[in-house]
Amino acid sequence: MAKRVFNFNAGPSTLPLPVLETMRNELLDYRGSGMSIMEASHRAPEYDEVNEQAMALTRELLGLGDDYHVLFLTGGASHQFAMIPMNFLGPDQVGVYVDTGTWSTKAVKESQIIGRTHVAYSGKDGGYIHIPSDDELDVPGDAAYLHTTTNNTIKGTQVHHDPVTELPLIADMSSDILSMRRDFKRYSMIYAGAQKNLGAAGVTLVVMRDELLQQCRDGLPTVLTYRTQAEKKSLYNTPPSYPIYVLKLVLEWIKGQGGLEAVEKINARKKDIIYGVIDEHADFYRGTVERDARSWMNITLRLPSEDLEKKFIAEAKAVGMVGLKGHRSVGGVRVSCYNAMTVEGVQEVARFMKEFMTKA
Ligand SMILES: Cc1ncc(COP(=O)(O)O)c(C=O)c1O
Repeated sequence: MAKRVFNFNAGPSTLPLPVLETMRNELLDYRGSGMSIMEASHRAPEYDEVNEQAMALTRELLGLGDDYHVLFLTGGASHQFAMIPMNFLGPDQVGVYVDTGTWSTKAVKESQIIGRTHVAYSGKDGGYIHIPSDDELDVPGDAAYLHTTTNNTIKGTQVHHDPVTELPLIADMSSDILSMRRDFKRYSMIYAGAQKNLGAAGVTLVVMRDELLQQCRDGLPTVLTYRTQAEKKSLYNTPPSYPIYVLKLVLEWIKGQGGLEAVEKINARKKDIIYGVIDEHADFYRGTVERDARSWMNITLRLPSEDLEKKFIAEAKAVGMVGLKGHRSVGGVRVSCYNAMTVEGVQEVARFMKEFMTKA
C-alpha cells in the first residue's frame, strides 16, 4: 500500500482514492482493449463511450436537461475568461462582472481587451472579504451577461446564493463545482477547470444553455467559437482524452456517494470542523473573511505571526499534511477541503491546530 499524505493543495489537488485505483487498474489494459484509454483514438468506440457518459453524468449531477450543452475544452478556466467576451460581447453591449478576487479580476481584464466592460461590484477596497447580495450590484441596461465567480480560491470566500437576474448568468465555478446543491438552471453558462473538484488538470468543463450558444458571435476563428465544439461534441480537435476519462470516473464517484445532496452534507461537516476550531480559538486563529462569505472549499486563516504560520505549515507537513500554505499573494494558511478530501483528513488538521496552539 502506497503511503499517501493528506493533500490540501488548492489545485491540482487530491483525487478520490477509488478513482486513482481505477486509473491504475485500467492503465495498461482499458477494459480488454489491450491499451490504455489515453492510447486509444479519440474516434474509437471506447473513447466515444467515455465522452458520452461524461456528458450525461454532468447533466445528471447538475440536474440539467438536453437544453444544455456539455463541452470539454482546453486552456483552463483562464481561456474561458477570453472566450466569453469574444463569443458573447456585442459591439453595442457591455460585459458585466462581479469582482470578488484575483480570478474575477483576471476575467475582467480579458473582457476589457475585447470590448466594453463594467464592474457591477468590486470587493477590492474592502480586501475582498465580502460577497455582495444582488441588491449591491450595479448592472447597466445594455449588459450582455453577468459574470460571477462562485468560489474565490485565494481569498476564501464563496457565494452562497444563486443570483437572480434577467441577463444570461455566467459563472466560474472552478473551485466549488459539484460540491453543493445549487439552482444550476439559473445559470446560462458554468465553467470550471477540472483540477480541483473534477479530476486532473488539462480539461475545462463548460456547460452552456442552448439559448446562449445560439448567441455566439459570427466571424470568430473556428476553434474559438463555442458552436464548433458543441456541434462536434468536443471532438473538433483531439480532446484531452485522459483528463476527460478521469473526470468521468470522478463523476461516477460523486454519483456513487449519493450525488450532490450527499456530497454537500460531507462538505458541510468538513467546513464545520475547521471553522469550529477557528471560532473556538479566535484569540489564536483568525478567519480572514466575513462569516456569511466563508468558503466551504478553501478555508483561509491567519495565526498570530508569520513566523508561527511558517512553523505551522512546516510541522503539519512533517506529520503528513501538505499544501496548507496560503496563496503567495495573501499569505497565511489555507485548508482546501475539496470533495476528495476526506473527513478523516480534516479531523487530522483540526487535531493538529488544537495541539499546535497549546505548544506555541
Ligand atoms: C476560481 C478560479 N478561476 C480560475 C482559475 C484559473 O484556472 P486555470 O489555471 O485552469 O486557468 C482558478 C485557478 O486556481 C480558480 O481558482
